[in-house]
Amino acid sequence: MIEKLRKFDTIEIDIEDLALTGKSIGHHNGMVIMSDQGLPGERISCQITMTKRRYAFARFKELLKASPRRIEPRCSNFTRCGGCTWQNLEYADQIEYKTRFIREALARIGKLANIPIDPPVVAGETFYYRNKMEYTFGHHDDDPAVGMHVRGRFDKVFDLKECYLQSEQSVQALEIVRQAAIELQIPFMNERTGDGELRFLVVREGKLTGDFMLNLVTFNREFAGRDELFARIIDGVSGLSSLFHTVNGKKANVAIGDELILVHGQPHLTEHIGDLKFQITPFSFFQTNSRQTKSLYDVILEHASPKPDEQILDLFCGCGTISLYLARQVGSVLGIELNAEAIEMAKRNAALNGIDNAEFVAGDVRKLLVELSHSDRHFHTIITDPPRAGMEQKAIQRIVRLKADKIVAVSCNPATLARDLELFAESGYITQRVTPVDMFPQTAHIEAVATLLRDPDFQPPAGD
Ligand SMILES: C[S@@+](CC[C@H](N)C(=O)[O-])C[C@H]1O[C@@H](n2cnc3c(N)ncnc32)[C@H](O)[C@@H]1O
Repeated sequence: MIEKLRKFDTIEIDIEDLALTGKSIGHHNGMVIMSDQGLPGERISCQITMTKRRYAFARFKELLKASPRRIEPRCSNFTRCGGCTWQNLEYADQIEYKTRFIREALARIGKLANIPIDPPVVAGETFYYRNKMEYTFGHHDDDPAVGMHVRGRFDKVFDLKECYLQSEQSVQALEIVRQAAIELQIPFMNERTGDGELRFLVVREGKLTGDFMLNLVTFNREFAGRDELFARIIDGVSGLSSLFHTVNGKKANVAIGDELILVHGQPHLTEHIGDLKFQITPFSFFQTNSRQTKSLYDVILEHASPKPDEQILDLFCGCGTISLYLARQVGSVLGIELNAEAIEMAKRNAALNGIDNAEFVAGDVRKLLVELSHSDRHFHTIITDPPRAGMEQKAIQRIVRLKADKIVAVSCNPATLARDLELFAESGYITQRVTPVDMFPQTAHIEAVATLLRDPDFQPPAGD
């Protein structure tokens, strides 16, 4: 009889492959096991953390046989930090897997096996590239700690003193805040009881401008030691251009809040993409890899290859960065985004760059697409850059009704991109090619840009 796997069982498996999520895949008694840290060709022991009917998740315990492709991770936190999944793999190997993920997702999910895939656009910087980091205050074995969650543990944070995805300045700022908070005896968040004062420290940087923003998130506006804590941060953190205090008294463990107070410096930081300037406020969305964002936008521009008089529609436009990057090459751009604050930033950033042919509207893409289909506006190209979950069928049906000649689909999730491309294909938009762009070295994430052209003979069904 085959023995049923249980939580906390320790098993040995051979790693056969890597999954889109970055997990290491093996089998045990006919069940798929998804662990971390193992590479194809390796044998590992791992401990089961969750079981389902046909598969189970496991935590890496020991390497029993190593792959020749394994390298020594640069960071001593690699085995406990959930940030970098693939620091044990050469960058060239990471790229090979990521490109394969796109090819396989297109073939398996999108039934688009023959789509040409361009050589991937690799990142110039494979370390120190992040412009944003969110540190969590918590505990480790009853001691206060601030840094990242231990891999797979919501209730355990480790003291981060080393990280190669962000600047040294960011790690140094964290050390100053940690020391000051401990000396001033300001309680760290307790994830189990919900008590404490300090919740998050969010660092944002202008990688091309040197601006440096800190945002401390606490439960209360007033707390013992607050003024001294802020004074020590202002005094100690070199190059600090903004210090914000966010008050979040709610239970939900997220780094947003009810009140945002500028304690010191500028109300925003400035970042560059190419020769454009962008002002970023503490909660505005901005791509986390500033330098590689220019490469991504150059790929989008090349896929769109717009003529000077074209009208472009930029769906899910965030704070309007793609729209503004394209605006000077085209007749006009309309950007649509759900987040009203991001749209305000987009308008501000258009003015900051002297761009007057970009219009931005806040609202749900699905709803605004209906209004657009009843207007007499025609768009030559539609750019789509949805969240990881991709687009809904309704949104795709409504995009198709606008009859743009070209769609440039941007996505950070090969699985939902493949699903959406298939839906577009059923509506007469045929994918021509896909370009992988690596925005996130040391992780399994990959961005992709696809060009779709409309079959002029295809008639989309009528709808709302
Ligand atoms: C991947 S981000 C876009 C990034 C942006 N294009 C850029 O390059 O910075 C996806 C955006 O879609 C927005 N969004 C999510 N659902 C939406 C919806 N139903 N309608 C409009 N925007 C939506 C999110 O707020 C987010 O800003």
